[in-house]
Amino acid sequence: MTKRVEIENLSFAYRGNPVLRSVNITAEGGDFVCLLGPSGCGKSTLLRLIAGLERPDAGSIRIGGAAVAGPGLDRGVVFQDYSLFPWLTAGENLVFALEQAFPGRRRRDHVEDARAQLGRVHLEGAFDKLPSQLSGGMRQRVAIARAFATDPPLLLMDEPFGALDAVTRAHLQEHLLALWQTPSGAAKTVFFVTHDVDEAILLASTVVVLGANPGRIRGVFDIDVERPRSRQSLQSNPRYLALRAAMVDLLYERSDDAGDAGTLQ
Ligand SMILES: Nc1ncnc2c1ncn2[C@@H]1O[C@H](COP(=O)(O)OP(=O)(O)OP(=O)(O)O)[C@@H](O)[C@H]1O
Ligand SMILES: [Mg+2]
Repeated sequence: MTKRVEIENLSFAYRGNPVLRSVNITAEGGDFVCLLGPSGCGKSTLLRLIAGLERPDAGSIRIGGAAVAGPGLDRGVVFQDYSLFPWLTAGENLVFALEQAFPGRRRRDHVEDARAQLGRVHLEGAFDKLPSQLSGGMRQRVAIARAFATDPPLLLMDEPFGALDAVTRAHLQEHLLALWQTPSGAAKTVFFVTHDVDEAILLASTVVVLGANPGRIRGVFDIDVERPRSRQSLQSNPRYLALRAAMVDLLYERSDDAGDAGTLQ
């Protein structure tokens, strides 16, 4: 089951302060959309709106044709911090999510699924560990495993790897792509927030560059670089270099010089 996400003329303000203005994004089912933009441009707010944690002031968000009316189990969310319950073990964090998503199943089945999902991120030994006993990278792997465990058609990830060292980050990017590219994972639509141009190009099928004050779309890039993509092979790929240069230009251009959203085809 894939989910198309349509964001139309979305505007949002926090107590009169405009945060997002006239945002239009359409993601087809199975798209991997990276949201890239400077601090404060409204990336997290946009994710919260898609998650149903905030309501638009104008415009609409539709998921699979239905307007978002609040949070739902069709959306798995991974935040940068605090996304695991610290008082539950890694395994019980997954079991809890599975119980919410599939009430009425036997606990034994949830435990078995939780173990299998932890295995997919190479954390089979962490089932009984509390988050405080795990490294930052391991916690993020548990959070990813939890998001995939309930098999939501839509994944919302807010700078999930932002706080990690470069090596751990590279491993987790590979884990995420491996999960997304499995037969069931490939059906997932992903919205992934990052500050990092290289991370965006490595992961995305579409990159949306946002500008600040108020947050709005500066450019939409179709990432037509073949997969699998590796950091090494990208460095010498002319298409990657062109995309990267265009995105960096947009990101560093003074926002008040900017015209309407540009598109690189
Ligand atoms: N709960 C809130 N109440 C009032 N204003 C808020 C709230 N959350 C965010 N804002 C404001 O909305 C704007 C966008 O914030 P948001 O967190 O979406 O930015 P961001 O692009 O995710 O930034 P970063 O890259 O630093 O995470 C900022 O000006 C911020 O001050
Ligand atoms: Mg943010």
